[in-house]
Amino acid sequence: MSEFVKVGRDGAVLVVALARPEKKNALTGAMYEALIAAFAQASGDAGIGALLIEGTGGVFSAGNDIGDFLAYALAPGASIGEAPVMRFIYALARFAKPLVAAIEGPAVGLGTTLCFHCDLVYASPSARFHMPFVDLGLVPEAGSSLLAPQRFGRARASEYLLLGEPFDAESARAGGLVNALVDADLLHAHALAKAKALAAKPRQAMLAARRLIRGDEAAVLARMDEEVRLFEAALRSPEAQAAFMAFMKRSKG
Ligand code: COA
Repeated sequence: MSEFVKVGRDGAVLVVALARPEKKNALTGAMYEALIAAFAQASGDAGIGALLIEGTGGVFSAGNDIGDFLAYALAPGASIGEAPVMRFIYALARFAKPLVAAIEGPAVGLGTTLCFHCDLVYASPSARFHMPFVDLGLVPEAGSSLLAPQRFGRARASEYLLLGEPFDAESARAGGLVNALVDADLLHAHALAKAKALAAKPRQAMLAARRLIRGDEAAVLARMDEEVRLFEAALRSPEAQAAFMAFMKRSKG
């Protein structure tokens, strides 16, 4: 469990808040474990009809906590496929109930790729999405190499995933990643109301409709397997090591 992930129930919605704003809600192994537990709680509780995930402190998430992840990855005998981040992204892709996200401020790496798995995403005008995997010497994760081109078209996905260009809330809305822009002070209430609306629908029909809309889950999982294989190889490359060291040095400075 992690003090940096707050889990609470509001009616039939499980509300999960990333609460490590001093580190821009960067996700540690302990936070992923807490997220996995929250998703399992939502799956296993018949009283919960939807999950809402959001940030705190005006930030959604800076993605993987780079130092924490390196400490895991560099430990003797570490298996990247078993890393908490990897177990979390599979839990995310397999999660069967409606999933809503409220995005404010930076949403980097997994902060963006998580949105591809959500049914509804609301963002404040301050939201800024970024998938800098290639700049870090890595490959896209969480199925984003499949889901981003499906969502945006290949041309735009190449700008975001290959050039690593950030994009703002309005571009995310125009590209179909975000449903609507909502002012920051209303964002939580708006996303919660939508999650409650999903949770209140006839449950079996909702789950079946959601499965149909999401399409071929096996293809997403197969792509994630391939991404993990390439990610593991990339992690050991000199270019990834140099990018990580540059980030760590900047942090210490
Ligand atoms: N891992 C570890 N620590 C991180 C982090 C990450 N992904 N993102 C931010 N932090 C830490 C910073 O090191 C800093 O710590 P410090 O105060 O001890 O120095 C703190 O969070 C605040 O970050 P800072 O960069 O000063 O905030 P900012 O408002 O200028 O920028 C971001 C916010 C999110 C744009 C910027 O932090 C960023 O780009 N982070 C890296 C994102 C990234 O590459 N994630 C991995 C994707 S795979």
